[in-house]
Amino acid sequence: MSRQLFVTTALPYANGNFHIGHIMEYIQADTWVRHQRMQGSTVHFVCADDAHGAPIMIAAEKAGKTPQQFVADISAGRKPYLDGFHISFDNWHSTDAPENHELAQDIYRALKANDLISTRTIEQFYDPQKAMFLPDRFIKGECPKCGTKDQYGDNCESCGAVYSPTDLKNPYSALSGATPELRKSEHYFFKLSDPRCVAFLEGWTADGNHLQTEVYNKIKEWLIPKEDGQRDLGDWDISRDAPYFGIEIPDAPGKYFYVWLDAPIGYLASLKNLFIKQHGAVAGAQAFETFLADPATEQVHFIGKDIITFHTLFWPAMLHFSGRKTPNVVHVHGFLTINSGEKMSKSRGTGLDPLKYL
Ligand code: MSP
Ligand code: ZN
Repeated sequence: MSRQLFVTTALPYANGNFHIGHIMEYIQADTWVRHQRMQGSTVHFVCADDAHGAPIMIAAEKAGKTPQQFVADISAGRKPYLDGFHISFDNWHSTDAPENHELAQDIYRALKANDLISTRTIEQFYDPQKAMFLPDRFIKGECPKCGTKDQYGDNCESCGAVYSPTDLKNPYSALSGATPELRKSEHYFFKLSDPRCVAFLEGWTADGNHLQTEVYNKIKEWLIPKEDGQRDLGDWDISRDAPYFGIEIPDAPGKYFYVWLDAPIGYLASLKNLFIKQHGAVAGAQAFETFLADPATEQVHFIGKDIITFHTLFWPAMLHFSGRKTPNVVHVHGFLTINSGEKMSKSRGTGLDPLKYL
């Protein structure tokens, strides 16, 4: 049977070259895509660089480049890997491209019109020297439980305690060393705790076609009410304050979308860009809308197990409540490991350079 498919792999952060885990994911998806093509199906297989976020902004600054230049340089190095492993993507784009700015703002406006956006003032650590709010991983200090020094703002590598950055003793900014101050700021939230979202996600995740059983069992934990009646699925903080490398939130000066809001929208942006390359700006944009709205189109994502919540809760909800088609299948893989079960990691020196492998 000839199918009409839109297939993606996770968009790699544009802060470094591919490692072997990325390539493994592409080979897995590429094998599936080639099989479909041999069966006579139409497949649009796309990916892109995930360009935004504070870590990339900070890495660019360290490298003495603008974030745009930094990301462009990473992107320019992708080809030998993709060609070397014969990965047959139809398009490679960027989440900082104009298509993504437009789509992200459109989707946000639709969610807002659906009364699914709220604002709330939160308190966060601010680096007075750098004049910016600090992402959790740039706040360090002593573990509130065991007192180990130089621990990150979310958990202790020594005793395993989990906490929030404001619990750290003697906190300091990993960017400047300065002592961070608590400051208030207004943040924007996607109201995932809205009964409409909960009902939709209960149905979508339980529909046996979308998810592997193991994935469903894991993700269910977010949706089942606890003894106090509360669910882990709360409203999702989707804004970050300037300075931030990202997409501006409409009608909210100085506010940007959190990178994970616009990253999956990058799948759509890459597909749209492919259609524009094939048919020109106007006809391409039209073909993109028609293709996505066609009930015969199947949307298939390949991802790793660390990014399940974004793809099986937040992403389907974003799509559904902005009046778009939701994913048909999310295929989830595990990690490539080494030394009996340790995740392969460049930073720990257990990575494997794909070019060396070639
Ligand atoms: N930028 C996000 C994804 C956004 S998707 C809208 C991200 N990037 S990543 O570069 O960290 O990871 C990209 C993909 O590589 C993910 O699916 C992740 O699970 C996968 N892998 C990262 N390390 C891996 C292994 N060691 N083994 C297998 N896959 C690995 O997350
Ligand atoms: Zn500890």
